[in-house]
Amino acid sequence: MNPIIVVVGARPNFMKMAPLYEDLKKRKLPVLFLHTGQHYDENMSTVFFEELEMPEPDIYLGVGSGSHAQQTAKIMIDFEKVCLKEKPSMVIVAGDVNSTIACALVASKLWIPVAHVEAGLRSFDMQMPEEINRILTDQISDLLLTPSIDANENLAKEGISDERVKLVGNIMIDTLLNNAEKANKSEIHNKLSIEKGNYALLTLHRPSNVDQKNILSGILNAMKYICNDIAVVFPAHPRTKNKLKEFGLYERAIEIPNFVITDPKGYLDFLALMKESKIVLTDSGGLQEETTALGIPCLTLRKNTERPITVEQGTNKVIGNKENHIKNEYKKIINKKIKERKIPDLWDGNTAKRIGDIIESQIS
Ligand code: UD1
Repeated sequence: MNPIIVVVGARPNFMKMAPLYEDLKKRKLPVLFLHTGQHYDENMSTVFFEELEMPEPDIYLGVGSGSHAQQTAKIMIDFEKVCLKEKPSMVIVAGDVNSTIACALVASKLWIPVAHVEAGLRSFDMQMPEEINRILTDQISDLLLTPSIDANENLAKEGISDERVKLVGNIMIDTLLNNAEKANKSEIHNKLSIEKGNYALLTLHRPSNVDQKNILSGILNAMKYICNDIAVVFPAHPRTKNKLKEFGLYERAIEIPNFVITDPKGYLDFLALMKESKIVLTDSGGLQEETTALGIPCLTLRKNTERPITVEQGTNKVIGNKENHIKNEYKKIINKKIKERKIPDLWDGNTAKRIGDIIESQIS
């Protein structure tokens, strides 16, 4: 049987593909694990392979950073060569990063079936590069594996036939549950000298938050305000750190008392930071889901979310990125009882198995 190629590229892909790779291997299906190299730093990539017990990739494209066009094009050129050589029976992509659309596009034009994990999410904000990646990947994928029912509804509205769509649940929760105990052994709180249960956790990397000086500066002011109350731990994405330096804001940031800026953390340390935090402030997609699963209040610093179920059923609130708004929403939420939350259906740790069953039945 020709191999199934499992594609990863950027940080959020790793936790989505680790359990699926393991499941396919257990079924003794021939799998080639391919890393495009979109993310390449030790703490943006390698550490996840080690901690999530993924093997070294069979194929590493090493494309690195660049503009959207450069990065997407480089991945496409290299991935086409791989597909022509390996003639995969299927290509599996995940999420909404540039590696996702690049590999899906190459495979579909070679008539290779494409499966998309985390299909159907929509922010309805075409200024997000991820929204473009999501819509296009779904249109050209043969098998659309959705994390929640809202995703099925979005796909139906776009005219995608039911037959291509399977509701399988949220695969990130498989990884979260698989690693929760290991994360309890993390020493990260001691290392950062922070008190468990008494700090906020911040992540920030969206262009809409970090690419304009006045917006990033306003967010920093809001963090300074929160730091008068509790520590804010900020594992800074390289893109954000570069922008802080470029705008001359870095010195100001490191001088804020109680503002703990650190390098990006690996999966286990980060999970430990999330589990023990009082509140999470973020513009990440994955964190909105993980905080809902963990029952930690989450303020999302964006205008919209492609994960509305985390607001409807979970602990998430979407609050935008204006300084005063962040301060007010923080004040409102911090001493309130945590909102009752429901864990969405099929966020149960068994998503990889459900996907494995479908893929096995489709290719054999
Ligand atoms: C990408 C994804 C985004 C995802 C995020 C998670 C796209 C369009 N965006 O955004 O959806 O939420 O990953 O992190 O695919 N850099 C490094 N080292 C690395 C990787 C990046 O220094 O290992 C720096 C480089 O300066 C690079 C910049 O970060 O230019 C941006 O990286 P890129 O992969 O283009 O986008 P992200 O912002 O990470």
